[in-house]
Amino acid sequence: MPSTPSTARAIITHSPGIPSPSTLSLESIPVPVPKAGQVLLRVLGFGINRAEMYTRQGLSPGLSFPLTLGIECVGRVVGFAPNDDAITTATTKTTKTTKTKQFRHNDLVATCMGGLGRQIPGSYQEYTCVPAANLRHIHIPTPPSTNNASPLQTQRPSPPPQISTAVLAALPEMLQTTWGALASGLAVVPHESVLVRGGTSSIGLCAIQLLKKKFGASRVGATTRSADRVEMLRAAGADVVFIDGEDGKIAGQVMAGSGAAVHARDSKEGSAKQKRKEKEKEESKHEGEAEQQDLRFDKCLELIGTTTFLDSAACLKPGGTVCMVGMQGGQWELTNFSPFMIPNRVRVCAYGGSTQDFFAMPWDELVLDVIERRIVVPVREYAMEDIQKVHEIMEAGGGGAKMVVVLGEL
Ligand SMILES: NC(=O)c1ccc[n+]([C@@H]2O[C@H](COP(=O)([O-])OP(=O)(O)OC[C@H]3O[C@@H](n4cnc5c(N)ncnc54)[C@H](OP(=O)(O)O)[C@@H]3O)[C@@H](O)[C@H]2O)c1
Repeated sequence: MPSTPSTARAIITHSPGIPSPSTLSLESIPVPVPKAGQVLLRVLGFGINRAEMYTRQGLSPGLSFPLTLGIECVGRVVGFAPNDDAITTATTKTTKTTKTKQFRHNDLVATCMGGLGRQIPGSYQEYTCVPAANLRHIHIPTPPSTNNASPLQTQRPSPPPQISTAVLAALPEMLQTTWGALASGLAVVPHESVLVRGGTSSIGLCAIQLLKKKFGASRVGATTRSADRVEMLRAAGADVVFIDGEDGKIAGQVMAGSGAAVHARDSKEGSAKQKRKEKEKEESKHEGEAEQQDLRFDKCLELIGTTTFLDSAACLKPGGTVCMVGMQGGQWELTNFSPFMIPNRVRVCAYGGSTQDFFAMPWDELVLDVIERRIVVPVREYAMEDIQKVHEIMEAGGGGAKMVVVLGEL
């Protein structure tokens, strides 16, 4: 096991509020020493999040600088507070059950939130100290061995892990947010139809797949501003794709069943549904009813924010729910807002993830889904030196894949 060096590289933000990512500076600093209850992690990879961009821009109040950003990472446990050589934590799952976890040297772990990159130095560095209470183990099943040698013969090296550092690094915050927003924010139940507003975001692409494969959604709609990204949404499993125009309005298309809704016809499920709908339409024509197909949804995961929120609410059936999760449009407040602008009987809620949500999601099951490619996670991999470029891409709109910085192999 390599020994821990005395200095390591870290990306430091010296002062917030500077619009350009040039404020992110790659420097050499002493390797931090864990306090009681913390572990020292060798960071193998970290995901890039908009929350970090907002902190860099000075929009997260009450933080002191210089600060190392980064709200999540995956890594190996390489140290404990002086006199410790392992650490046991207790997580209260319900009022009746408490689960204990033990962390030892070289354990592969994931963390997110819990003040990381805000109240304590974050994951944009080669070594970071994290409260053990905010860690989850990562279990990667050993691939079936092709080694038929007897135990007395020379062992071949074990096969490489079935998942890359980049994909693993994309998971903690993305799975926590997506699972939490669908399970507790929107409280999706089987057979509901859900619109993912901002479908090409990393969270949107994950949500489409979880809705189809884990939540039993009957129909998933998704939006993008770009016709070039329709195929990406279909590949993720969207039944219906709507192109978000410059006015941020799709409710007309949804109610008229028009626009890119045509894409549903190509999928197997979509085509059976389409035939049924066409038959119903034919019958209703005979009854003298309007020719429109109403494609309104039961629920909407709102990842774009205030610029599309009211229109998303108008895409829902009465009694439907829209959950505010993201703020892509750059506008934090609704202007000239009256509560009566919300369509009749539509409900509104918000979701903001926390450490509690990191522990509430079925992490082991979801990681296995990713390893076995039931859930596909597109990633774009960068090095620490690319950090300014990565923030520039995020500022320009991002999407299509989760951006991750990789520092080492699993
Ligand atoms: N509440 C929480 O706990 C929580 C946690 C994590 C993230 N979030 C939020 O979730 C959202 C998605 O995050 P992400 O990291 O997955 O995003 P991302 O991968 O960077 O994707 C952003 C997407 O938003 C669209 N977009 C970008 N700029 C836009 C604009 N000005 N107007 C409308 N659409 C725009 C783009 O889609 P097209 O170009 O295809 O239209 C792009 O694919 C963010 O708002 C983030 O802050 C919330």
